[in-house]
Amino acid sequence: MAPKKIIIDCDPGIDDALAITLAHGSPALEILGITTVGGNVNLAYTTGNALRLREFLGFPGVPVTAGSAGALMRTPVDAAEVHGELGLGGARLPEATLPPREGHAADFIIETLRAAPGEVTLVAIGPLTNVALALLKEPRIVDWAREFAILGGSYTRGNFSPAAEFNIAADPEAAAIVFGAGWTVTMIGLDVSRQALAVGSVVDRMREMGRLGTELLLPCVEFYGMVTADEGPAVHDACAIAYLIDPTLVAVKPAVVRVETAGRYTSGMTVTDFNLADRPPNALVGTSLDVPRFWDLVLKVYEDVAHRIG
Ligand code: RIB
Ligand code: CA
Repeated sequence: MAPKKIIIDCDPGIDDALAITLAHGSPALEILGITTVGGNVNLAYTTGNALRLREFLGFPGVPVTAGSAGALMRTPVDAAEVHGELGLGGARLPEATLPPREGHAADFIIETLRAAPGEVTLVAIGPLTNVALALLKEPRIVDWAREFAILGGSYTRGNFSPAAEFNIAADPEAAAIVFGAGWTVTMIGLDVSRQALAVGSVVDRMREMGRLGTELLLPCVEFYGMVTADEGPAVHDACAIAYLIDPTLVAVKPAVVRVETAGRYTSGMTVTDFNLADRPPNALVGTSLDVPRFWDLVLKVYEDVAHRIG
């Protein structure tokens, strides 16, 4: 079967880096482009990290296009305390030698989807500002995209606040535009990704992965959270990519999702109603992850990438 063509909009970011590694290594996916947004760290760093990852992992021909530095209407927030000041935890990849593509991420998204209507999947694993701008500029992308998935939101509790997940909370207005655009958003939220813990047995496998392990995976994961036999950091973004590789890994349910933009304590909450009551769903919401098969897939792909880069 031909690989699924994807655009990854991201804010690398530790788990973004793990997700990009998975997407690059999987024969089921073909990355047409990476677009970057300010989020975990500022746009200069998220873009620089995407450029470093592109060369370290070995896909220099894939364009990296920078997008929005901050939210549509809000003061920028970041998660440097979680991802490190440079954004990749303890990883210090070699400087990139190739520049980003000229132009704005929103235009790259529009033009790539326009050029191949119905063929390209858009996946956003950072704040949704670039996707919202693309929608505002060219609403027809909802018809051109083969599929649209995000890592973001939660129908239970948040992580940025008790109510809101970081990617949504960073730009609630953008998320409201995205969920109200008329397409179906596959929302892989914290309810799924909190199950994807890099516990001790996972990290032990990463130790056997040569340069990929020592220069990227381990300095990322071990910075991201405490690792014990039963606990570890949740590799959130990788869940969205794993879903695109094998949708059977995630159970999804149709829902009506609305984004709170006015709440004093709930701004950025993805208010998820599984009771459709004859309303058309605007989202497929992830409810559970097949954890053993998730890690089987991820670690097998990582071993393949490790073999390629030596
Ligand atoms: O809440 C998790 C999400 O926020 C992930 O995309 C992580 O990279 C951060 O951006
Ligand atoms: Ca991210």
